[in-house]
Amino acid sequence: MHFFTLLTAAMFSVAVRADIETAASAPSSSAAAVSASSFTNATLQLSLSNTLSQANYYGAPIPPWEVGSHPGWYYGTDPAAIIGWVLPWLLDSLICDILDLLPFCLHCPVPKPPPKNGWVPTFSNLTGATQASDYMTYGLVDTIQGCETMCLNVNGCTFIDTYHDVNGKNGSPQLTCALFSLCHDASDADNKGGQTQPDGSVDYIIDSNGFCLHS
Ligand SMILES: *[C@@H]1O[C@H](CO)[C@@H](O)[C@H](O)[C@H]1NC(C)=O
Ligand SMILES: *[C@@H]1O[C@H](CO)[C@@H](O)[C@H](O)[C@H]1NC(C)=O
Repeated sequence: MHFFTLLTAAMFSVAVRADIETAASAPSSSAAAVSASSFTNATLQLSLSNTLSQANYYGAPIPPWEVGSHPGWYYGTDPAAIIGWVLPWLLDSLICDILDLLPFCLHCPVPKPPPKNGWVPTFSNLTGATQASDYMTYGLVDTIQGCETMCLNVNGCTFIDTYHDVNGKNGSPQLTCALFSLCHDASDADNKGGQTQPDGSVDYIIDSNGFCLHS
């Protein structure tokens, strides 16, 4: 799986690089130089196509219950609250415009009507988070509703677990939002944290809530 991820990322780079070279060879007095904004665009395209691809679990290839994991994205209104990581902010218009052009990548979510039969709670307020092989991605959100919107925008997502990973977010107060393709009940919510953080603290989980999408 790891090899596949790297290979896919490399292919993306090549594809995007080819585009950039084509653009750069357009008639111009200085063919080798690009403006700062084109450079930013090109750099962002490369970086986003590598990190936010489906093959890379939309930026979070290591699931949250494994050592070394980090969230893949932030969908919420307070980017300044994200401390310690550089995460793509899914309400930034330039990031969203670029993601719209990239195949097999996460796109910025658009609010959608609630599913026909709603979100069915499968557990609430647990001190464990879902740990399962149908994991799709995880990121940070401000609210449970933000996590629901993410799931509605990721193809195949049917289950969300939102929780506070205390000490596990470099001090960010945001909710963790983990997406899965199958629904889970409390019996799978057995990630209790326990990972030692860079500052020596140990993380633990509170307020873990599971919701299954019944469309
Ligand atoms: C950068 O990308 C955005 C979104 O695709 C586009 O609107 C803008 O014109 C681009 N800027 C340059 C200099 O290419
Ligand atoms: C959630 O559980 C904690 C204990 O783990 C408890 O202190 C708190 O009151 C509970 N909250 C709700 C809304 O039930």
